[in-house]
Amino acid sequence: MSGVLQKVRSYVRDAVRSAVINHHKRANNVLFSDTTLRDGEQMPGATLEPDEKLRIAKALEAAGVHSLDAGFPASSEADVVAIQQMVGVIRKPILTALCRTVRSDIDAAQKALHGNPIHKRGVSLFCGTSPLHRKHKLQKSQSEILKIITDTVTYAGEAFRVIAFSPEDASRTELDFLCQCYTEAIDAGATTIGFPDTVGVLTPEKAADFIKAIQDRVRNIDKALLAVHFHNDLGLAVANTLACIQAGANVVQCTVNGIGERAGNASLEEVVMAMAVNPDQFPRKFKVNTAHLAPLCRLVAELTGISISRMKPVGGENIFATEAGIHQDGLLKNPDTYLPFRPETVGTEGIQLVLGRHSGRRAVAHRLHEMGLPDDDNAVARVVERIKQQPKGTVIDDDCLRRLSGDAA
Ligand code: KIV
Ligand code: ZN
Repeated sequence: MSGVLQKVRSYVRDAVRSAVINHHKRANNVLFSDTTLRDGEQMPGATLEPDEKLRIAKALEAAGVHSLDAGFPASSEADVVAIQQMVGVIRKPILTALCRTVRSDIDAAQKALHGNPIHKRGVSLFCGTSPLHRKHKLQKSQSEILKIITDTVTYAGEAFRVIAFSPEDASRTELDFLCQCYTEAIDAGATTIGFPDTVGVLTPEKAADFIKAIQDRVRNIDKALLAVHFHNDLGLAVANTLACIQAGANVVQCTVNGIGERAGNASLEEVVMAMAVNPDQFPRKFKVNTAHLAPLCRLVAELTGISISRMKPVGGENIFATEAGIHQDGLLKNPDTYLPFRPETVGTEGIQLVLGRHSGRRAVAHRLHEMGLPDDDNAVARVVERIKQQPKGTVIDDDCLRRLSGDAA
């Protein structure tokens, strides 16, 4: 290729890159990058077969995520097979492959993603940058790390247009050095820089301070999107993600049901619903359709075998169920009295008025009426009394209610 042609190509490429990045920034978008199939699957016991990954990828595409961290090709042949099955089938989200800052990892990613359009495939490079990682894991100096970043991001640019770089253990990396890593990565062609809180140590205030500092200090930040990635070791992954969205992060990496290394990652469904319920605090656009969330949570639980806690926000089976008399009375008058959002908002149905010792007359009368059983005041009062006398653990289902009602009639 002639020198002039090369210059024209690189000019066009930079112009397209700037246009895309500026579009997302100007539109005030929050882009959801799902890592269920990579960080989520790293969770012990959460192994997924390639066809199961494809099912989840299709569900994530239908839900509207912007990109999928589809796997780590250099780490396992199964990841290569899974990614190849997604190529040409998953069309809307960008498919990215995880790579160490090693050329052979980038080659493996290129092979796995072969056939996907150039703007729909990407690499997500990572390299440990904290003093702990530099000294104990990599035995590399700061300047050696900077050179590795420049070399590998540049190399990735030969085959990819979408290139993310994340300094692993960013939250325990010296701020000055962290910003140097980002500056080098962007100069070398990174289109996204990631901020992973790899061992989940941050609190929302500290996380937001990092994001503000990165935006202030990285001189070429306007040429890249800023992504955040939180682990949940202190139970703060969602709160930290939300704080960073408010501080200006463009991309959030999450997993369905919050599955992932150790205590997991920020849960996609919780971040989405926190934003949806609080538009005053999050006046930003996002494309995830909330009505897909509950089915998505169920699918991931079913295929990974990692069950969802009954109390899990958004996906847990308890979240539209109540046994308390006052709440049941309120819900029957207007569901919004005791709910932050309706079941249909997250794609599920049915407020469950569970009958038990804490239930009042209103819910009992309601169910008796629905079942066509006597529901006058005296009948209801007797059934309520008898429910309270049932031994611990008795499930007051319809059969039981019929029996108690029959006795009372
Ligand atoms: O938590 C982490 O640091 C990661 C990296 C691979 C980005 O998952
Ligand atoms: Zn992670």
